[in-house]
Amino acid sequence: MKPSTSEVRQMFLNFFHKKGHKIISSSSLIPKNDPTILFTNAGMNQFKDIFLGKDQRNYSRATSSQRCVRAGGKHNDLEKVGFTPKHHTFFEMLGNFSFGDYFKHEAIAFSWELLTSPHWFNLPKEKLWVTVYEGDNETFNIWKKDIGVLPNQIIRIGDKKNALYDSDNFWSMGETGPCGPSSEIFFDHGPKIVGNPPGTSGEDGDRYVEIWNIVFMQFNRQLNGTMLPLPQSCVDTGMGLERITAILQNVHSNYKIDIFTKLIQSVAETIGTTDLNNKSLHVIADHIRSCAFLIADGVIPSNDNQAYVLRRLIRRAVHHGKMLGSKETFFFKLVDPLIAIMNINDNNFIKKKKHIEKILQTEEEQYAKNIERGISLLNTEITQLSDRTLGGDIVFRLYDTFGLPLEWTEGICKQHNIEIDKIGFEYAMTQQRQQARNSSRFYAKNQNAIYTTQSSIFKGYEYLQLQTVITAININGNTVETIRPGKNGIIFLESTPCYAESGGQIGDSGNLYDKKNSHFSVHDTQKYSQAIGHSGQMITGELHIGDTVIIQVNEQKRKRICLNHSSTHLLQATLQQVLGKHVEQKGSLVSDSSLRFDFSHYKPMTLEEIHTVEEIINSKIRLNSRIETHVMKLEDAKSYGAISLFNETYSDYVRVLKISDFSIELCGGTHAKRTGDIGLFHLRSESSVAAGVRRIEAVTGDKALLILQKENEQLLNITNLLKANRYNIYEKIHSFINHTHNLEEKIKTLYQQKALETKNLLANNFMTIKGVQILVYTLNNLEPKLLHIIVKKLKNQLKSGIIVLANIIDEKVFIIASVTSDLTGRIQACSIIEILAKKIDGKGGGHPNIAQAMGFNITTLPKALIDIKEWLSENL
Ligand code: ALA
Repeated sequence: MKPSTSEVRQMFLNFFHKKGHKIISSSSLIPKNDPTILFTNAGMNQFKDIFLGKDQRNYSRATSSQRCVRAGGKHNDLEKVGFTPKHHTFFEMLGNFSFGDYFKHEAIAFSWELLTSPHWFNLPKEKLWVTVYEGDNETFNIWKKDIGVLPNQIIRIGDKKNALYDSDNFWSMGETGPCGPSSEIFFDHGPKIVGNPPGTSGEDGDRYVEIWNIVFMQFNRQLNGTMLPLPQSCVDTGMGLERITAILQNVHSNYKIDIFTKLIQSVAETIGTTDLNNKSLHVIADHIRSCAFLIADGVIPSNDNQAYVLRRLIRRAVHHGKMLGSKETFFFKLVDPLIAIMNINDNNFIKKKKHIEKILQTEEEQYAKNIERGISLLNTEITQLSDRTLGGDIVFRLYDTFGLPLEWTEGICKQHNIEIDKIGFEYAMTQQRQQARNSSRFYAKNQNAIYTTQSSIFKGYEYLQLQTVITAININGNTVETIRPGKNGIIFLESTPCYAESGGQIGDSGNLYDKKNSHFSVHDTQKYSQAIGHSGQMITGELHIGDTVIIQVNEQKRKRICLNHSSTHLLQATLQQVLGKHVEQKGSLVSDSSLRFDFSHYKPMTLEEIHTVEEIINSKIRLNSRIETHVMKLEDAKSYGAISLFNETYSDYVRVLKISDFSIELCGGTHAKRTGDIGLFHLRSESSVAAGVRRIEAVTGDKALLILQKENEQLLNITNLLKANRYNIYEKIHSFINHTHNLEEKIKTLYQQKALETKNLLANNFMTIKGVQILVYTLNNLEPKLLHIIVKKLKNQLKSGIIVLANIIDEKVFIIASVTSDLTGRIQACSIIEILAKKIDGKGGGHPNIAQAMGFNITTLPKALIDIKEWLSENL
């Protein structure tokens, strides 16, 4: 019996569970607080801090099946996906981990037992090949002597081109972080498939497929390349679930395993194609997995970072759908089959099913519109081309901004016999990739640049003032003993009541004193690893490391922050109630002046929804419920119903904030004691931040009152001005607008009348030079708009001739020259204007038919007009 994908996953977890490993659920695809990677790309990501010695758990062996996405950043094979038997954007990585527990010997023995034991995967031993890092004799010998692998099936792999640690057998999580030498196990699919063993030329074929990577985690790679030893040696392994399933189901391609066969069938049915071998089906089947899971984990297509990758994936899938002949929106229809085929029962995913479908559908429709706009832009560009080549930058813009695939642009250009500048396109692509790489490097965030081994205890939940000791002082990045008046710096304390910015809540400000009345004013508080730093300025006296000081939080500011933070919790719960469960926090900023909350929702809120939200929150405020916090075990928090627990990695103890039964969430911030403290919640604005993400800004407490009072004052001023009152002001403004509109209409009619009169007057002033009707005339105080109308009217009447009209208004001269088309071969309006502009100290320009100038020299105008008549008679 061939095991199903789910069975293979379960067997793996069971095996390691039996070997004393704790089974840990997959973490989110979006790494939490880790800017070094774009997506979760390996099972070890959620354990990174344990490897680094920054976090501890009550277990030292773990196993998991981790959802991973490799579609951007390091470990990225996007272009290959769908076209090889083994590449995916989304896959599950089975792994076992040891945190300072077992090391090389046990790790290797476990893998061998699971793969070859008749009780488990029962793979023929002779089909397994292994690789080891070149100098790692210990591992080589374990495989050879303890396991009994034939020496010719153990291959040593060294560094590439003498670049230290750049090897297929040295695994690093990202450009920084845990890493170490590895040993990989390969499966030989047999001579029917082309390919050579790893480490030999031709290894890129598909005969030998890497199935398991066992990493001996020993170092923490620094940005400058230095390898710091980890506090303890660890093991991290990864085996692609889809690859091992392919082997156990006796197929060569991952796309032939049970789930993919069914998924491909569904895609084909949805699109209406029968060609089941078409590789575009593979692409779509792969991409619906990554796209759906990314959206479930909170990503919404947009233009940067993860959101951009998601957009590209959706577009790539839709593009392949089009190649298969799909005529309508299809991608979102695959979510249902995906859930059934993958047997997804993850609560978070199921809860968001509608949201996932909606996002996919909207994005696909939007993409179709973009493509239309792209094609129309392309057509315009084609008509304006001066040679037969379309520039690489335009091709790139069509590709990057409008999502027009290169081959489409190429196809359309071909129809017009136009080449595309591929080199220019490639160049633009490289530039963009480089930019993307640079922007994903983030390590140099200021506070990390300040290195301190100190740690501080935060006591701000209970105290607003306390006595403590200075542990470090930093000025301009240097540690110093003393800080003197006028100097800006950062002071670190043993313990502090000041909240360091995190979770969207801004840092506290306050004051620091010693007994001699030395005073340091704290402007902001930030975390620096385990330490809390107070940045600010030394006002009087001086402070030294070791001094005992009193630190006071700015109480007024903190209180306002607390009101805004508690209101944010009320807001989130209310939005879920009013708009739906798909509402998820996308970002927040809690300061003393206001609160900002970004959340997922795909259309603007109606005024009615906004008012309902305000009403509910204010009714919760009036209930004056207690706002409680409890520190509890993660497991208890789950059963307590704290939301946002899915897909996150937390330490064993968490802080839960509870506002009656209305809102229960994990939160480390500071809060009001009762909802009544908030006093008043006023929603100021609701707007869009990105596709599918809305932003609410709101104010609370005395700030809300102040703002409402200010608005009231403004309303009073307006009503006084318009001699109205607050009840009839709307009608009054409306009637003003109507009145203005009527006046404008009257002015227009008057203009027309005036223009007609002036035209009739001018019509008698033409002269004839060399058989051409010419008018050169000066008007006064005419609305500049009228000048154009008059010229037009004269021209219509004239059919053939030259008109030069000047108008003096507000000490300035405006001139229009107009030449009917039959004469532009002889005289051009722009040449007339060029001459006149100079003579009146002005500037001008235009076309052969019509041109205009503006100048400041009124006195030279009469002579200039005489000159131009002469010039005309000479040049006609
Ligand atoms: N972390 C290792 C990998 O992803 C196991 O290959």
